[in-house]
Amino acid sequence: MKKALNATVSWVGKVDWELARFHGDEYSTHKGSSYNSYVVEEGQTVLIDTVWKPFAKEFVDNLEAEGLLAKLDAIIAQHAEIDHSGALPELLRRRPDLPIYCTANGIKSLKGHYHADWDFRVVKTGDEFDLGNGKKLIFIEAPMLHWPDSMFSYMTGDAILFSNDAFGQHLATEKLFNDLVDQDELFVECIKYYANILTPFSALVDRKIQEVLALGLPVAMIATSHGVIWRDNPTQIVLKYLEWARAYQEDRVTILYDTMWEGTRALADALARAISQASPQTAVVAHCLSKFDKNDALTDVFRSKAVLIGSPTINKGVLTAVAGLLEELKGLRFKGKRAAAFGTYGWSGESVNLISEALVTAGFEVVDGGFRALWNPDAPALVAAAEYGKAFAAKITRPAETSK
Ligand code: FEO
Repeated sequence: MKKALNATVSWVGKVDWELARFHGDEYSTHKGSSYNSYVVEEGQTVLIDTVWKPFAKEFVDNLEAEGLLAKLDAIIAQHAEIDHSGALPELLRRRPDLPIYCTANGIKSLKGHYHADWDFRVVKTGDEFDLGNGKKLIFIEAPMLHWPDSMFSYMTGDAILFSNDAFGQHLATEKLFNDLVDQDELFVECIKYYANILTPFSALVDRKIQEVLALGLPVAMIATSHGVIWRDNPTQIVLKYLEWARAYQEDRVTILYDTMWEGTRALADALARAISQASPQTAVVAHCLSKFDKNDALTDVFRSKAVLIGSPTINKGVLTAVAGLLEELKGLRFKGKRAAAFGTYGWSGESVNLISEALVTAGFEVVDGGFRALWNPDAPALVAAAEYGKAFAAKITRPAETSK
C-alpha cells in the first residue's frame, strides 16, 4: 500500500479499479481512478488528503499497519470534496487529537459535510507548516480548482507541489509516476478531466498557474489527487493546462445528435460526409447522444472549433439526451467555438430554433439559422443537407473570436 515518492514522502491512497461513474452519475471513468493521499515523514509526520468514504476503514487500517496512524502530527486537507475527505471521520475517530490544516472555505465545506467540530487550523496563501529537518510546506490557495476551498501545498527541499485535483486524471494504475504508464491513455484522461471538470474555471486556471510560475519555485514533482504523479518533465502538464485554458481548439468538428426514426441521424451522416469532403484536413466526429458516452462527447466539443447539434422536434421541444447535453454546455462555458443546429420535423418544427438559442446562451457563436428537413429526408433533402454542410465548413474556416 505505501509507495515511496522519495526518502520521506509516500503515497498511501487507494486505487479504485471499479469506479465507472464519478460525481454521482455525471462523469464516466472508463479507466477507474485513484484517490491519492500522501504522508510526509520529516521531523513532523503529516498526512495530505485522504480517500473516498467507501475506503475509509481500509485506508485508516493501512495507516495503522504501516505504523503511521500513531505517528501522525497533522492532517492537511487541501480540498473538502468527498473523494478526498471521506476518510476524515474514521481517521478523527481514531486520532481525535489531530489538527486539520485547511482554508477558511475548507472549514465551511468540511463542517457542511460532516457536521463535526474538529481542530481546524485556517491557512492562507503564503502560510507555512514547519516539517522539521529544514523543510516546510507552503500553502497556496487555489479557489475553484476545483471548489472554493481548494489549495495547493509546496514542499521545500524536495520541490514537490501537491496540487490536489489540478493536473489529475481519472486513471487507475499501480504505477506511481507519469513516465510508467501508457502516454496515449494518460493524455486522453487528462484532457477529458480538464474538458469536463475544469473548463468553467479556465480563467482561474490561467491566473493561478501564472501566479505559481511567478514564484520561480523549482518543481521536481507534481503530486495530484487522482492518477499519476508527474515526475518526468512535470511542467508538461502545466503547459498543457495553459493551452487548454485559453479557448483551446483543434481543426475538428463535432456533430452531436439524437434521433427517433433515423431522419436526424441521416442528416448527421450527410453533414459529417460533406464537411469532411469540403475540408479534408478537418477531423469530423459524430456522437449519437442517447447511445454513447456524454463525457466523451463533451471532450470532443472541447477539442473542436465548431459543433453541430441535432434533434427532431418532439412535443415542441428536443429529445431528452440533447436537452441534457445543452444544459451541460451552458455550465461548461466553452470559449471561441462556432455552432449551428439541425433536425427533422413533421409539423411544428421548433427544435432547430431551440437548439440555436441554447447554443447562444452557452456562449457559442451560432453561424446561421441551421438546417431543417421535413419528415424523413429524401434524396433532395440529403443533397440540401450536404450543401448546408459544405457552407458550414466554409463559415468555420476563419478564426473565431475568443473571449476569456
Ligand atoms: Fe477530486 Fe474536487 O475532488
